[in-house]
Amino acid sequence: MTISQHVLDYHGNNTIFQVWVFKPQLSVKEAFMRICALVDNLNNSGQNRFPDSGATCVLGIGHDAWLRLDLPRPLPLELENFRPITGAKHTAVATAGDLHFHIKGSQPGICFDMAAAITATLSTVADCIEEVHGFRYWDGRSILGFVDGTENPHGDERAGFGLIGDEDAAYKNGSYLFVQKYIHNLMAFSSLTVEEQEKVFGRYKMSDIEMPDNIKPANAHIALANIGDEFKIIRDNMPFGNMGANEMGTYFIAYARTFSTVKKMLDNMFIGSPPGNYDRLLDFSIAKTGTLFFAPSATFLSDAAS
Ligand code: HEM
Repeated sequence: MTISQHVLDYHGNNTIFQVWVFKPQLSVKEAFMRICALVDNLNNSGQNRFPDSGATCVLGIGHDAWLRLDLPRPLPLELENFRPITGAKHTAVATAGDLHFHIKGSQPGICFDMAAAITATLSTVADCIEEVHGFRYWDGRSILGFVDGTENPHGDERAGFGLIGDEDAAYKNGSYLFVQKYIHNLMAFSSLTVEEQEKVFGRYKMSDIEMPDNIKPANAHIALANIGDEFKIIRDNMPFGNMGANEMGTYFIAYARTFSTVKKMLDNMFIGSPPGNYDRLLDFSIAKTGTLFFAPSATFLSDAAS
């Protein structure tokens, strides 16, 4: 019997995302064992000290790190290095990442302390190449002003779409974790009328209601990202922003039972369906990163810690 990490939990109000890359030519196994123990400790402590804050930390491991750490073979069936997806106009880039931490909680303080403890444990053997502090924007809106997360699976569907089952028994209750850091051209998007903005997403802005199919454009985000009721993922996106640096964006993060489901959505968005009919949202959003990780079960991590 294995139990999953906290991949099915709902949004926290505050999030820190970290991507780490191991330094070359060092032994990293011992630090990894300490990190596995630490993640377990942080989750237990967060829930014990602040039971209502939803303070959790999920650890994801990249393909190359899996090999370097000599973790079990065969690998999870669909764990690979993400390869770029190049459409006629936009590209989903592929970037490095050995470990990914998804820290969330209702209080920024606990997220900060978790990130600090991880940094103290890893910084001699790895570099943090990305750190994004996300926050809940109003009623769960992306920084572009549209509610994000509405059509996520709920109830029992979350485990069905978010966790590996018997099809890859060695990794049961693990999950494929895919992340992209998007920067938005907020000024260009804001210069559209509300009606034009709604056509970008295929939903009405204030009410968060989906447009009828006969009105929704074929290149609307949800027209291309929805690949059928039997193929869903758990999205936990968070907005982030730095006015001074003029850098506003969405940290896209998805947990899925199969990576091929995420890949199909990305193909639809970047290449288009049919090819050329790409996602209009990409005209206002540049993917700066793109990395696939695997979030093994919590049981797997506690075994790896000893
Ligand atoms: C839906 C925002 C990237 C997959 C939505 C919705 C918004 C949104 C506002 C409508 C409400 C909802 O159901 O959540 C964004 C933003 C993105 C982004 C701001 C980054 C710029 C992606 C990517 C994927 C994706 C990269 C897949 C790889 C989906 C799916 C839906 C959705 C599956 C639900 C479609 C449906 O069934 O109606 N997104 N999204 N999104 N998005 Fe995204």
